[in-house]
Amino acid sequence: MRDLRVSVTDRCNFRCMYCLPETEAAENFYRGRWGNLVESTLIARQWQPQDKILRFEEIERAVRVAVGLGVEKIRITGGEPLLRQQIETLVGKIAAIPGIKDLAMTTNGFLFSKKARALRDAGLKRVSFSLDSLQPDNFRKITGRDGLNAVLESIDLAKELGFTPVKVNAVVIRGINDHEIEALAEFAAEKNISLRFIEFMPLDSNRAWQKELVVPGKEILNRLQTQFQLQPVQSANTSETARRWSFGNGQGEIGIIAPVSEPFCGHCNRVRLTADGKIRTCLFSIVEHDLREMLRNGASDAEIRRFMQAVVWQKEDRHHIGEPEFVQPERTMSCIGG
Ligand code: 5AD
Ligand code: SF4
Repeated sequence: MRDLRVSVTDRCNFRCMYCLPETEAAENFYRGRWGNLVESTLIARQWQPQDKILRFEEIERAVRVAVGLGVEKIRITGGEPLLRQQIETLVGKIAAIPGIKDLAMTTNGFLFSKKARALRDAGLKRVSFSLDSLQPDNFRKITGRDGLNAVLESIDLAKELGFTPVKVNAVVIRGINDHEIEALAEFAAEKNISLRFIEFMPLDSNRAWQKELVVPGKEILNRLQTQFQLQPVQSANTSETARRWSFGNGQGEIGIIAPVSEPFCGHCNRVRLTADGKIRTCLFSIVEHDLREMLRNGASDAEIRRFMQAVVWQKEDRHHIGEPEFVQPERTMSCIGG
């Protein structure tokens, strides 16, 4: 396990329909199409109380012990990580831990321009933005917020400030933004960024996920190949989740992340720490491991280390999406961290 994803808050200022849907548009979309299939069971969207959320010192300690065990890459996620006050202070603390080779953040980008310089100065190296649409109306329909321009400005600023590579994640949902696949690829080429198309996974709070809403990676690729001269990009990293393609002119690239149609569980090297201090060994874990209690009950570093080792040995072989026994985890992506 080399990659630890740390969620710093379960809160979010967006309401993406594949994550925390609340908009009427999202409800109507799901109901209209799948009304007779899905009983829309809106699970209670309750934020964790403050005292359940790990403090910076606790996160720093957990990361330090994990790095001692071989973790090299830290990604800060949420919810929306920029909603956590003084997040740059945490970035600074983590950046100072010897042994970390890569420090990144995933954000929806809405508040990024306010924090960008402080984050860079604190030692953040890379940023991934979530951007599923380039059409203002569709952006609002998907995220529940009027934020397209703010996010586009953030992406430009990240490039200007030298965050490299700047990545953009687009979750593709059939009937919602699949008509924008080509435009999003064009955007990647034009802006010289890495745009990754992600299959919709069953991690939404409405539990409205349906296989029919997933646009398989192969279909995305076929469509793009009719319009662009895509060249495969070899990756040195065997745990890379994206299959990558360049446009052949050195400007930008696309990646396809297909966890549903082409699972890559076998070489997954990720572990997650939730904002309330639970270790999750898989996005789809149904059990969590309580690190917070250990951190708060006077456990020594050596004990935490042993605990983490024991937890990691229990990592699931694979997910079971699409199989009859599949159970959607209780927590949504906004609580788990991407
Ligand atoms: N399926 C696929 N990707 C998702 N994300 C959030 N929810 C889902 C889902 N149900 C993505 C976001 C973000 C990343 C952290 O995870 O778009 O870029
Ligand atoms: Fe917020 Fe990210 Fe979930 Fe969208 S996907 S609601 S930006 S946590």
